[in-house]
Amino acid sequence: MSEIALQAVELVRRIEGDVAHTLVNGIDLSVKKGEFLAITGPSGSGKSSLLYLLGLLDAPSEGEVIICGEPTSKLSESERADVRLTKCGFVFQFHFLLPEFTSLDNVLLPMRAAGKMSEPEMRERGLSLLGSLGLGEHANKRPNQLSGGQRQRVAIARALANRPEIIVADEPTGALDTVSTQQVFKILRDIADQGQTVVVVTHDPALAARADRRIHIVDGKIAESTGQGGGEAVCEMAT
Ligand SMILES: Nc1ncnc2c1ncn2[C@@H]1O[C@H](COP(=O)(O)OP(=O)(O)O)[C@@H](O)[C@H]1O
Ligand SMILES: [Mg+2]
Repeated sequence: MSEIALQAVELVRRIEGDVAHTLVNGIDLSVKKGEFLAITGPSGSGKSSLLYLLGLLDAPSEGEVIICGEPTSKLSESERADVRLTKCGFVFQFHFLLPEFTSLDNVLLPMRAAGKMSEPEMRERGLSLLGSLGLGEHANKRPNQLSGGQRQRVAIARALANRPEIIVADEPTGALDTVSTQQVFKILRDIADQGQTVVVVTHDPALAARADRRIHIVDGKIAESTGQGGGEAVCEMAT
């Protein structure tokens, strides 16, 4: 059986308050190493909430997220932060690059936080990542000197900095033009083909079609799953 990179077990995320609200309502999911999974669904269906749980940016009310075989629900906050920093890379709709930093310095941030490489090693990796994403000429520019597509590629380089097993991306092409959208999707596809696991929320059916598998979320539940992956059902309709 293929190696499972990411697993969600009966995942629930509830918001307590005057009106309790269930954002994620019992999700079971296995994502294989090197799989490219697209998550689709209407606005407000819980896609971002699910992604934040999968990437350890948020903690579930119930259930478990297992990253590379390691259950995370009982980890301390600092242990979770360490798993998040080294095993998960994030790309959002808006790049969230630091405006006063160059592209290279933005890419170095997660490496500095992890503290596992020397300064020359980090710079070499940062430059090599930027080069591989077609940004070799832009390493010393700041975000406001770059186009939207270039900024998003810097954000992808930053997400890849610590060689995470899992890349999660929340509508990474939502603010991009068609050409940049295609570039970003090809990059994510290549990342998966090279063995990292990619989970992308997207509204674009053409992009979702290029994933290995698609899950459609409605009201915090998997309503439909199509394509290969996860090791079990190839096509299943949830009840
Ligand atoms: N922190 C929060 N407190 C209350 N409601 C929230 C919170 N985060 C998200 N929601 C609500 O939960 C639902 C799911 O949100 P979200 O996961 O962002 O959906 P999607 O990404 O599919 O658009 C939405 O109705 C949203 O308004
Ligand atoms: Mg969202």
